[in-house]
Amino acid sequence: MKLSFTLNGEPVAADVAPDELLVEVIRGLGLTGTKQGCGVGVCGVCSVLVGDRPVSSCLYLAACAEGEQVWTAEGLAQAEPALIRAFAEQEGMQCGICTPGQVVTAAALARENPAATDAELRQYQAGTLCRCTGYQTILAAVRAYLDSR
Ligand code: FES
Ligand code: FES
Repeated sequence: MKLSFTLNGEPVAADVAPDELLVEVIRGLGLTGTKQGCGVGVCGVCSVLVGDRPVSSCLYLAACAEGEQVWTAEGLAQAEPALIRAFAEQEGMQCGICTPGQVVTAAALARENPAATDAELRQYQAGTLCRCTGYQTILAAVRAYLDSR
């Protein structure tokens, strides 16, 4: 089936299978920042924005993205350099596997609740698991990003 949507501000047209997942389509287009982790909606490393909402692209049928605005970490890095700068300055990453999901989730938080308290921030980022950092530097990065806006 034909699929048309906007990816990181650019129009995309693709042939997709009815059961193809959005993460597969995005990675197939060469944007491998969006990771395939658990595949069951638990780890958050596959998060992308559909509209202003973060979704687990491992559970999201690509066909449902028809006509939508989709943003990945690559696109956000270009569109919102302050977000990436905050992660770099606060050292909010180690291996980097979870970082695209953390970045996408932080961008969603900035849209949904730009005046988030630290407690709200922690709750929002809790859906993206990190095996490396102990989370403190990630939370500091998101805090710095929100405060910079
Ligand atoms: S790969 Fe999608 S939530 Fe883990
Ligand atoms: S930086 Fe390695 S999983 Fe988060």
